[in-house]
Amino acid sequence: MRKKIVAGNWKMNNDLGQTEELLSKLLKKMPDTEAEIMVAPAFTNLRVAFDTLSQSAVEVIAQNMHFAENGAYTGEVSAEMLKSVGIRTVILGHSERRAYFNETDETLAKKVDTALKHDMTIVFCFGEELEDRKGGKHFDVVESQLRKALFHLKTSAWKNIILAYEPVWAIGTGETASPEQAQEMHKFIRETIASNYSEKVADGVSILYGGSVKPDNAREIFSQPDVDGGLIGGASLKAKDFIAIVDAI
Ligand code: G3H
Repeated sequence: MRKKIVAGNWKMNNDLGQTEELLSKLLKKMPDTEAEIMVAPAFTNLRVAFDTLSQSAVEVIAQNMHFAENGAYTGEVSAEMLKSVGIRTVILGHSERRAYFNETDETLAKKVDTALKHDMTIVFCFGEELEDRKGGKHFDVVESQLRKALFHLKTSAWKNIILAYEPVWAIGTGETASPEQAQEMHKFIRETIASNYSEKVADGVSILYGGSVKPDNAREIFSQPDVDGGLIGGASLKAKDFIAIVDAI
């Protein structure tokens, strides 16, 4: 049975004080759930988040990392650095990284390989833009993103992969994919993995949906058979909303 997961991506929000405040609210109110709960604070706040949540079931994860082991990459953070502060899971391929920091499928394939070399788990994000969907190319775009960054992996690597389908047109826009659109794409993703690997690999991989998930639409999206949880942006910044979304899984 694959894992249900709700992950909060805090993006470039919350200074140290705000991070401590949000962590303390989450710690007090987080419901008991069989789902895995993750939060991704900014790099500067990973350690305090890790220490604060270390006795809880909430995992602290990173928003990004570099593919190199170390060296002259000003402003970047390596897998070893993340691991040295207790981080075992990293988000890769977020559409904001692709759009604003020129991350390509090829760069992402390298990042994936480095993270796996360090036995990290990856929340791999991908999804089409509005023009792709309007032009009926959304399935091709998603298939291509998966193939170029992930389909060189061996079957055994897939135990460390969590997928997050995030249609770019639904991120931070208030416009969410309908539950039917999410299910249609998640089913396609699972079938694509099955045909490139096996039914077993496809059935085992958790596929999260991301894009304007809120307390009032989470339950319906999460109820779709191929939607295994969510990657939550804006609504993860308010403890009450994030907890309501966790309750909906
Ligand atoms: O990583 C999270 C996604 O970008 C979704 O963000 O919930 O603010 O639309 P959002």
